[in-house]
Amino acid sequence: MHDRRSFLKKSAVAALALSLPTTPACACNGTISAKLPMKTRRVERALVAWYSQTGNTGRYGRLLAATMRRAGVQVTAGDMRELDRPGAGKYDLIVVGAPVFYYDAPMLVQNWVRSLPDLGGAAAAAYVSFGGPEGNQHNAACSILECLVERGAVPVAQKAFMNLGTYPLSWAGDKINKTPWRSRNLPDRETYQQVRRYAQYVLDRVAKGQSAEFSKKVTMREISTFFGPIWWTKRSIDQHYILADKCIACGACVEKCPVGAIDLGAHTVNREACVLCFGCLNNCPAQAVYMDQDGTRLVGYREFLKIKHIKISEPPELKA
Ligand SMILES: Cc1cc2nc3c(=O)[nH]c(=O)nc-3n(C[C@H](O)[C@H](O)[C@H](O)COP(=O)(O)O)c2cc1C
Repeated sequence: MHDRRSFLKKSAVAALALSLPTTPACACNGTISAKLPMKTRRVERALVAWYSQTGNTGRYGRLLAATMRRAGVQVTAGDMRELDRPGAGKYDLIVVGAPVFYYDAPMLVQNWVRSLPDLGGAAAAAYVSFGGPEGNQHNAACSILECLVERGAVPVAQKAFMNLGTYPLSWAGDKINKTPWRSRNLPDRETYQQVRRYAQYVLDRVAKGQSAEFSKKVTMREISTFFGPIWWTKRSIDQHYILADKCIACGACVEKCPVGAIDLGAHTVNREACVLCFGCLNNCPAQAVYMDQDGTRLVGYREFLKIKHIKISEPPELKA
């Protein structure tokens, strides 16, 4: 048993090592481009939909929406799981945002876009938030656009916004003390400026009727997505359950889990179903989610921010 476990751990390390150097080389064959003319050059109604585990993608989405509203567009914005899917066909512009998880856009996002009705030539833009510095974000945004084009949208733009990573394994164990996290305290003002500029850029492109073409790049990280990084990483987590004596039954973990893997009554996590997004650990306000790697308990994002005295700034538009 022990040998099997160390074999799996070594293999996980090998898989991670595979993904380290990034060598942008040639583009894949599949070009993501418009298959039909753009519905209109005048954006009257736009939809900004996002998936966000720890708030970054959501904050950018709300800022994009606020900037577009200031430009006179009627915007519907929100978490994609709460939006009216059948109604998505009525918009002139659709903007979809996602965090980069394991070098790609999460499956939940890709499936959500695939479940939309025919978008009938609506302009489409994607954005991703990532914890980088390099996390295959171009290809992750391409994944979103690919799905949007499948649904009959016309791609106009894509963009990645960097912020503090929310991946607990990046500050696990000793790393929490050794890494200069404060210098990576993003998003900052410049990030929010990029978001505002992106909103205007998207509207300008539509006004000019300019669609865009994108191709995924062949990178080591892209290749590593074919080897099941979630599955491998899951192998390195020894325990994952809810601490009954700490749990305050607020349901944050259940709400965040995209695959319904948490049984709050039994304080268990279905580890087969789990997609290791750390949504439960990262959002629990009571430190009741127990995850352990190599005998070290993992710390969630909320707790991490507290320990490192990091306060995430809000853009002024959203404070109002
Ligand atoms: C499970 C998981 C996997 C992640 N994988 C990547 C990655 O492959 N590349 C990257 O740059 N950042 C990665 N990150 C960092 C997130 O993309 C980043 O922190 C993002 O802004 C989180 O968005 P949210 O706050 O809206 O949930 C990962 C974070 C988590 C929790």
